[in-house]
Amino acid sequence: MTAGEAPAPRPLAGRRVALGVSGSISAYKAVELARRLEDAGAIVDVALTPSAARFIPALTFRSLVHGEVAEDLWDAAAPAEQHVAMGRRAEAMIVAPASATTLAKLAQGIGDNTVTLTALASAAPLIVAPAMDHVMYNQAAVQANLDALKARGVLVAGPAAGRLASGARGLGRLLEPAELAGAVRSAIGRAVGPMRGRHVIVTAGGTREPIDPVRFVGNRSSGKMGFALAEAARDRGAVVTLVTTQAPPAGLFGVVVRRVETAVEMQAEIAKSSPGADALIMAAAVADYRPAEAAEEKLKKSAEGEARMLELVENPDVVAGVEGSLLKVGFAAETSDLIANAQAKIAKKSLVFIAANDVSQEDAGFAVETNRIVLLDAAGGVERLPLLHKYDAAAAIYERLVGEPGWRAV
Ligand code: CTP
Repeated sequence: MTAGEAPAPRPLAGRRVALGVSGSISAYKAVELARRLEDAGAIVDVALTPSAARFIPALTFRSLVHGEVAEDLWDAAAPAEQHVAMGRRAEAMIVAPASATTLAKLAQGIGDNTVTLTALASAAPLIVAPAMDHVMYNQAAVQANLDALKARGVLVAGPAAGRLASGARGLGRLLEPAELAGAVRSAIGRAVGPMRGRHVIVTAGGTREPIDPVRFVGNRSSGKMGFALAEAARDRGAVVTLVTTQAPPAGLFGVVVRRVETAVEMQAEIAKSSPGADALIMAAAVADYRPAEAAEEKLKKSAEGEARMLELVENPDVVAGVEGSLLKVGFAAETSDLIANAQAKIAKKSLVFIAANDVSQEDAGFAVETNRIVLLDAAGGVERLPLLHKYDAAAAIYERLVGEPGWRAV
């Protein structure tokens, strides 16, 4: 079975997003952003400045989005006060790319085109994604405008460093569409999400316990379930710390990422983040044992035919050792006696519930996009979830978590 049999997640289902595009060579990325937002379930209204429309014609967006496309302020055929309606119905507005000129207008409250007027007419969270030459970006005037916008609660997404249209390298590249879509989801979550203001720690990936500088004891965890959990908590407005052994994908905008390798490092990183945290979602596959010693030099092959012994010592049980009032959710990857084996871990590790999955199935578990999990609690409750995309499985876990008696409601 493949991921195709579980419907694709739609984290922005029912949301209305306004996308403002200003003049920059990177305006082509706004097309991809519009598509991503619509794929995520949003209806996108687009406003183009006259310069943006020179780079990307309005027709391109009209063919792509289910919302309206506003271009010429004086277009007699456009609905009256179109920008006001677009601004009013938006649940988030993103200006991407945001040129130096558009940033200046937004900072000053100037409304002279459909982008700046839509922003003025909107009370929704505003995200700006600057894109320009690095010398322009570093100008005191541009920085002052960005500071003014930030001080008013505007989320500034990027820019990234890299090769610029001028051929120079520096800060000024528009973030990638996946990151910009993540910024929109983050902004909506922080405004209205059911977990807003809460701090959630998520662990992801399998720990790597070194044998020598080039080898480790590891496992098959890809980190995908943990990444989906981080994303889903972010989308619900939580402040998320992701403690991971694997590099996260690009769309995890707004998530604080802490890279670790071993169980002991993971434990230390959680200890740093856990004071004041509301929940720990322990999706990482932690090795139960590690080599007693990690050799400093690469181990050489022993004499022919001779067996080599690797002494292992026990790792700490990371989740069991985390104390405090935070709610702990565990994961259990089993290959036999799923329910009984997972159930036993709830009390042992003082979890509120555990998400168990049978990793011997092809469509659930390691390195696939879907999961079929069973939620088990201390009272013996068994909730079987259908085959779901890992993002939707994560969403189901949070729905359960926010209903727990120990959860601080927003
Ligand atoms: N876990 C942990 N530290 C460990 C081992 C596991 O924090 N040293 C966590 C995992 O992240 C997971 C839960 O405990 O959330 C259950 O993991 P699992 O490997 O199934 O449990 P174990 O206690 O290692 O039991 P088993 O004998 O089945 O390996």
